Amino acid sequence: DTALKEVAESFHVGMAVITERLNGTHHEIYQREYNQITAEWEMKMNIMYPTEGRYDFTAADQLVDYAEANGMRIHGHALIWHAATPTWVEDFAGTDEEFETMVEDYIKTTVSRYKGRIVSWDVVNEAVNDSNGELRNTVFLQRMGADYIQKCFQWAREADPDVLLFYNDYNLCWDQTKLGTVLNLIDDFQTNNVPLDGVGFQMHISYNGPSKARIAENTKLVTDKGVLLHYSELDVKVNPDNDISELTEERAFAQKDKVTEVVEIYNAIPEGSKFALTIWGLRDNESWIPNQQGHADWALFYDEDFNIKKAHTGFLEGL
Ligand code: XIL
Repeated sequence: DTALKEVAESFHVGMAVITERLNGTHHEIYQREYNQITAEWEMKMNIMYPTEGRYDFTAADQLVDYAEANGMRIHGHALIWHAATPTWVEDFAGTDEEFETMVEDYIKTTVSRYKGRIVSWDVVNEAVNDSNGELRNTVFLQRMGADYIQKCFQWAREADPDVLLFYNDYNLCWDQTKLGTVLNLIDDFQTNNVPLDGVGFQMHISYNGPSKARIAENTKLVTDKGVLLHYSELDVKVNPDNDISELTEERAFAQKDKVTEVVEIYNAIPEGSKFALTIWGLRDNESWIPNQQGHADWALFYDEDFNIKKAHTGFLEGL
């Protein structure tokens, strides 16, 4: 078998999707390969709560319906994220107390809307700085204080006692300072009985790093805490330094090897920590990476013509 979800027997295989690509060849491949989806951007606050007092769950509903109709789980992503905060929230005119009530209402409204239909939520995304491991200076930190993350998790739990609650961030598979803050956060949550079910390593990585040893080490640091671990947004850059103008065979093989390493590590974690490995998009030309780094790349498992790349084979070989 070459379908990822069939070969990955001990964890779910996820795909980032958007509502405009739920049909045709996309749909056929989604059905064949994956048993979980994440909304690439349509379940973020700027989309679900675009204007004060007016929620818009049109796209989110469509994605949840799609998952159900196709027997897939859906991972909610992401309730609080500084990069998807609507302008009206950034510029919130009310008091801090009113701000906090507004966020509580948003989290409870959203989580309870999908209660029993969504398996998990990234409650807070990317709250830790790269440089120093301190909390990122977002409007949520400013308005609600240093325990805003704890509050958000509590509200999510009150709205749905069963949904799995994740903290999600990037660079956690190699940045020890950043991961250190997240490990402290887990300890703090556990000490104070704040609900937290798992951590997401985004896994936006490159063909040449981080090393397998480093990823394995950081993975273990999280699973040793007894929480779930989601590799939540995997893509593997082959052109981080902009030194190739097309995907060379050498880079395609290097990408494949990196994917194999990642899957080997994930597959080997304790059963109780397994959740899902999600790939951040289907075709190279649909990836956010070229946009993010400002030049071409081929970071995913399918090429523009829906052909399977070596990276896809690399996934199967990691199992
Ligand atoms: C990105 C999506 O891929 C883009 O389509 C969107 O415009 C911006 O967000 N970390 C995350 C994801 O948690 O939500 C981001 O996704 C990539 C970085």
